[in-house]
Amino acid sequence: MNVYDSSRIADMLRNQGYEETAKQQDAELVIFNTCHIREKAAEKLFSDLGRALLIKQERAAEGKQTVIGVVGCVVQAEDEQILKRAPFVDFAVGPLMYHTIKDILQRIKENKTHEGEVYTDFPAESKFDYLPENKAQGACSYLAVQEGCNNFCTYCVVPYTRGVEYSRPVEEVLAEAKRLISTGSLEINLLGQNVNSYHGEDKNGKERDLAYLLHKMAELDGLQRLRYTTSYPADMTDELIDCHRDIKILMPFLHLPLQSGSDKILKAMNRRHNVEDYLRIIEKLYKANSELRMSSDFIVGFPGETDEDFAKTLDAVNKVKYIQAFSFKYSRRPGTPAAVMENQIEEKVKKERLEILQNLLFDYQDKFNKSCIGRVLPVLLEEKGRHKGQLIGRTPYMQNLHVETNSANLNKIINVEVVEATTNSLSGKEL
Ligand code: 5AD
Ligand code: SF4
Repeated sequence: MNVYDSSRIADMLRNQGYEETAKQQDAELVIFNTCHIREKAAEKLFSDLGRALLIKQERAAEGKQTVIGVVGCVVQAEDEQILKRAPFVDFAVGPLMYHTIKDILQRIKENKTHEGEVYTDFPAESKFDYLPENKAQGACSYLAVQEGCNNFCTYCVVPYTRGVEYSRPVEEVLAEAKRLISTGSLEINLLGQNVNSYHGEDKNGKERDLAYLLHKMAELDGLQRLRYTTSYPADMTDELIDCHRDIKILMPFLHLPLQSGSDKILKAMNRRHNVEDYLRIIEKLYKANSELRMSSDFIVGFPGETDEDFAKTLDAVNKVKYIQAFSFKYSRRPGTPAAVMENQIEEKVKKERLEILQNLLFDYQDKFNKSCIGRVLPVLLEEKGRHKGQLIGRTPYMQNLHVETNSANLNKIINVEVVEATTNSLSGKEL
């Protein structure tokens, strides 16, 4: 979501006459888009800001002004505190207030601003209404269809930093998709913190779900690949599951976070699914499309997690055999219910559990990648590789794949026979 937001902010700035620079040293304006999901992500901002200050000072010595802005969820959570810790920041704007950036920059230009403007409202209007029309920046595009979250998992800051759920109207999504396709997108990934609870209005004011939106997207001329992320297990409806059978351009790879394999922990996390429900959904998905493969997020060391609970997470991984997954040590986030739960888990235990879980996850990822050797996969080539004549792309399963091919194939889909595989990438030869 932050990648999408950053690109929309860049669109807005381009309309204002700004251009991207290759080096931060050359930039008159630097904006940090921030994540507050775990402590480590939030702390990264302050070390990055320290480096930006040095550059700002060097540029000032050459008589050049540098405006530094911070946007995103850290701003929402820290508010004015950001300016206390980094007083050289010129403005700070929360994730629903990006539209204010344009006017702030104008005020700075005209010297009409006070030091450090901060905006962290949750406006009722959609932030999307203010953003300018966008163009594809490559063959793969993100498209946010839903923002915010009402699920309130007890560990998570998102409902507090991104606010309540909001779904963009169907027509607005389709118009953005058409623009992306006409400017070069072959693949669109529909985004939302809880994307499968999408309930945007159609042109008659009727609420429509994600399954409806996926069918509408699939009718668009020129779109070759469709994905959606991130989904909440309890919101996987039968209609949505059927899309994996009926929509040919829907890629056979689904991110469906389980978080923990223990029902006791899932309950304490306030997740509205237990392990059995989750496995049942996966079974239905496989029945709809036997090519489908899964990925997930996991948190280890949630308060109260015993060795037995953790073993159940490993059991679930052994059952689903995820081909990719993200796993994290539980991070205490101020203001969330889990942060004040008793029985917090020691750092040492979290570290041990994470290592065990990641080793198991990597094993399955490695096995799946190796099982692709000899298969012919369509690959969307997204960037140049390190070696001349090499391009890097993604398979339908989101694996990175390197291939020697004509550079004119950049941003195209070609068929590749997989020749080699490691845990993190594949390589192959063009057919
Ligand atoms: N600690 C660790 N991981 C977290 N996530 C969300 N909040 C926390 C937290 N407090 C993870 C979840 C979520 C992913 C985006 O980040 O697994 O699915
Ligand atoms: Fe956070 Fe996702 Fe839970 Fe929403 S569903 S509270 S975004 S983990």
